[in-house]
Amino acid sequence: MGSTTDDQHAQVVEQKPFDAERGGRRRLLVTAALPYANGPIHLGHLVEYIQTDIWVRFQKLRGHQAIYVCADDTHGTAIMLRARKEGRSEEELIADMQRQHQRDFAGFQIEFDNYGSTHAPENYELCQQFWTALRQAGLIVEKDVSQLYDPEAGTFLADRFVKGTCPRCKSPDQYGDNCDKCGATYAPADLIEPRSVMTGATPEIRTARHLFVQLEKLHDFLSQWVQEDEHLQPEVVNYLLGHFLNEPLRDWDISRPAPYFGFEIPDAPGNYWYVWFDAPIGYIASTWQWCKRVGESLECWWRSPDTEVHHFIGKDIIYFHTLFWPGMLKTAGFNLPTKVHIHGFLTVGGAKMSKSKGTFVRAEIYLRHLDPSYLRYYFASKLGPRLDDIDLNFEEFEAKVNSDLVGKVVNLASRCAKFASRMGLSSRYPDDGGLFDHAARAGDAIAAAYEQCDYARAMRLIMELADRANPFVEQAQPWVLAKDPAREEELRDVCTVALNLFRQLAVYLAPVLPDLARKAGDLLADPIEHWQQSQQPLVGTEVQPFQHMLTRVNPKEIQAMIEESKEQDAEQAVGEHVSQEQNASADTDPWNDSDEPLKKEPLAPECTIDDFMKVDLRVARVVAAEEVPEARKLLKLTLSLGGEVRKTVFAGIKAAYKPDELVGRLVVCVANLAPRKMRFGVSEGMVTAAGEGGEEVYLLSPDSGAKPGQRVH
Ligand code: 2FM
Ligand code: ZN
Repeated sequence: MGSTTDDQHAQVVEQKPFDAERGGRRRLLVTAALPYANGPIHLGHLVEYIQTDIWVRFQKLRGHQAIYVCADDTHGTAIMLRARKEGRSEEELIADMQRQHQRDFAGFQIEFDNYGSTHAPENYELCQQFWTALRQAGLIVEKDVSQLYDPEAGTFLADRFVKGTCPRCKSPDQYGDNCDKCGATYAPADLIEPRSVMTGATPEIRTARHLFVQLEKLHDFLSQWVQEDEHLQPEVVNYLLGHFLNEPLRDWDISRPAPYFGFEIPDAPGNYWYVWFDAPIGYIASTWQWCKRVGESLECWWRSPDTEVHHFIGKDIIYFHTLFWPGMLKTAGFNLPTKVHIHGFLTVGGAKMSKSKGTFVRAEIYLRHLDPSYLRYYFASKLGPRLDDIDLNFEEFEAKVNSDLVGKVVNLASRCAKFASRMGLSSRYPDDGGLFDHAARAGDAIAAAYEQCDYARAMRLIMELADRANPFVEQAQPWVLAKDPAREEELRDVCTVALNLFRQLAVYLAPVLPDLARKAGDLLADPIEHWQQSQQPLVGTEVQPFQHMLTRVNPKEIQAMIEESKEQDAEQAVGEHVSQEQNASADTDPWNDSDEPLKKEPLAPECTIDDFMKVDLRVARVVAAEEVPEARKLLKLTLSLGGEVRKTVFAGIKAAYKPDELVGRLVVCVANLAPRKMRFGVSEGMVTAAGEGGEEVYLLSPDSGAKPGQRVH
């Protein structure tokens, strides 16, 4: 990337409201859409919650005052009917769902400053304020609405609760709003032989009085707002101008007659605010709860020009957030959104998430198999500032995590940290050929990319830095220096450079990988808390013992996760309401290793200890590794068995490991295997590994502390 482009990007950082009194410290209120309490969190949801979490963490790391608020969206017919079906109150149902949602978010290191519920007293009070303001502005009108009514359930039926035959193509079993066979859209009353999904009863048409907001009265304001100050991405502005603002805005039906789970409208008894009326007000209610808890004023956060309000949402709910919501905020005198950041949908393997294929993966199931850092990084590497859908491709997922995070970032620390923890860092930062300075200068462009939600670009820039840092370690070969006591100073300098370059990467990646940042902070006894830490190297400090940071993705776990997602669906079909806790069984126990390998490869015939001792297994360190271009499967390894003893081994591990991630690593080698002449040279031993070959190979390594040449018994 040329420096001109970087500089242009750098200029746009923090050109938002700059409050001199606050010392340039922005006050940022950030929200993600409130998840509906009717279903579990899945990978599709996580795109948004992770995207938002990264943005908030970035802002906090830059020293701004940012808070991330969210809540469960709890009202509506769907919740009411489900609670009835499950024989419990709506309150019990939503409390249970909220626990599950919060558990899943925490599992993905998504950190909210407040997580509330739309069924909260604060929300009711705010709904009343909005309502009074809308009434006073003369925006509320009453109209009769005819709707299908289920006489057995005693409730009006939302479109999705009615099924029947398509009036156009006559396909049976179509929902009340559109036909998935011919694409026709219609009113539920147009269906042929309609029936209630709830009870199977034939619905009747009944008429009830509804309350509407006359949005058209706000047309001029909304036309102006959507086009000014980059509140919205350019494609969203065009969409709104071309689809809605080019004609009168329709009145918005914001009430539902009883029975309905929600808040009853004070001046219209028997009527409830529609779930989409109180849901966005939940953003403010959640902020209010936070204010009460920490002693802040709601006025400062929602009625002050110094506060920026940033909403993150998916492209399916644009209309609500860019027309209804600004209209309501304007009328009630609250801050308007500074920006609505809109993302695309998630596809898996290029297709819509599918329950039958097992690609509709619940957050909870993912966490049983894979590290959340993988998904956070993968999504970050795919998320741009536009509305394009993002695709989760599991091969790419594995390759990116293994090569970028494990191969380039963690490896930088793991190859030096052990020596450094003996010696500490040099007291002056050594000459590194300009590597640290270059990476420090890249900080502005990386920050600009985060600010604009162009995380894909931020990740590319960070990995470019990792690509410059790694050759330094490869050339300096600290593992060779470590053998010569006379070169201790040189070794310390090499480790000082490598660990500082690693720390810079950890600071830049901290919004995406908080766990890695915490471990980097522990290693160097200097917690990562501010972006500025990327600008100054650490010198003269102690280095703590290296703790494990991140393992390679295990493709078997991806497969197991997909399999479990399929099973989950089958269970759901027989009893959707069985809670996750009740489902816990040996099949889903993460420590249950009952796989099939023993069946595939039964134990070999018994051998004596003397037989076993004939095999001389030794700890060895990989001191060099290279590709054998002519060989499909082989890597050529040079192993050190301590002192001057070296062995060359050709190992069939090319599909699973890259040469540079092996260098420095301890392995277990069969040291007395008869040499074998191969087409590419002589193989003087063998490295031990588990697995089936190809990518399914797992090298055996002793715990750290073992020394090359030690015998393995
Ligand atoms: O689309 C949804 O899942 C809604 N529950 C989002 C609500 S966002 C906000 F307006 F509350
Ligand atoms: Zn049809």
